[in-house]
Amino acid sequence: MKKVSVIGAGHVGATCTYYIAEKNIAELAMIDIIEGMPQAKGMDFSQAAPLRNYGVPIVGSNNYADIVGSDVVVITAGVPRKPGMDRMDLLKINTQIVQTAASNVAKYAPDSTIIVVSNPLDIMCMVALDASGFALKRVVGMAGILDSTRFRYFVAERLNVAVTDVQAMVLGGHGDTMVPLPRFTTVAGIPITELMPAAEVEELCDRTRNGGAEIVKYLKTGSAFYAPAASAAEMVEAILTNEKRIIPAAAYLRGEYGHEGIYLGVPVLISKHGAEKIIELELTKEEQSALDNSAAAVHGGLKALRSFYSMSGAK
Ligand code: NAI
Ligand code: 2OP
Repeated sequence: MKKVSVIGAGHVGATCTYYIAEKNIAELAMIDIIEGMPQAKGMDFSQAAPLRNYGVPIVGSNNYADIVGSDVVVITAGVPRKPGMDRMDLLKINTQIVQTAASNVAKYAPDSTIIVVSNPLDIMCMVALDASGFALKRVVGMAGILDSTRFRYFVAERLNVAVTDVQAMVLGGHGDTMVPLPRFTTVAGIPITELMPAAEVEELCDRTRNGGAEIVKYLKTGSAFYAPAASAAEMVEAILTNEKRIIPAAAYLRGEYGHEGIYLGVPVLISKHGAEKIIELELTKEEQSALDNSAAAVHGGLKALRSFYSMSGAK
């Protein structure tokens, strides 16, 4: 049986573990530093199994050694963004946490693929890549799928159509500079630019860019976790089943879209090899310039990272 480990058993990590359990495709290990907490949640999930129709083993633990044999490891460990806290404020504390998590993944699950969730996402991907020493394809970030699922929902709600008929594409960094692409956002194949006035399209793009912050404002003590967990679980499934899904995700760019040496949200063929292939779209001048602006924000984050973290080597 395949194995998936989730590092961090907080809101996103525990929910993600639960969603993966319901897929019945892998045994699970969930690791957290809080004593007893992952064990309790693991037991609780196992006790729900007879009613929720899954039968996979689920272990909660404080010991990274329990991730041995994992095919995929999802890193959600970190501190969530709080109101008034910019994503970049999280940088220092989460860098250390993700560094610890990724080094342990390299030690105990060296053949796995890492899906990074911890924020600031695009920068934490770089930390996980560096600390794990994994190949570029084996470290991928979850963000674009979440941003586009939010966009899908906003479009469906506005047009009063089934969410399942809406497809959306959002590129760029996971922050307010992300780039929703209305041209590639469709309802049953029809671009939304044909279905609503330009001002409404822009309004929904804006809401998408602020989707995470909108929830933080209501929650006050944390950030979204159901849609983020569902997004990460979808990526896990894509890797384990090797269905060749095309998913917007943070991938390491080597010249694609005109950018180099950063993680940025782009459409990616996700397979058993991880981020197998980046799909390059022909962008308009305006779209490219918005993406460049987003890449510049990620470069800013990387510059901040390099001010206290030295990368162990070029990948
Ligand atoms: P949370 O606070 O509920 O859970 C984080 C957990 O990580 C805590 O239980 C904590 O004890 C644990 N942890 C801390 N250091 C650890 C270590 N060294 N090893 C193992 N576990 C450790 O936070 P939540 O809401 O689950 O969010 C987790 C992260 O995911 C945050 O950084 C948040 O900003 C990010 N996030 C990213 C999204 C994305 O789209 N990429 C979406 C939603 C959240
Ligand atoms: C979100 O987009 C906070 O990154 C998190 O909900």
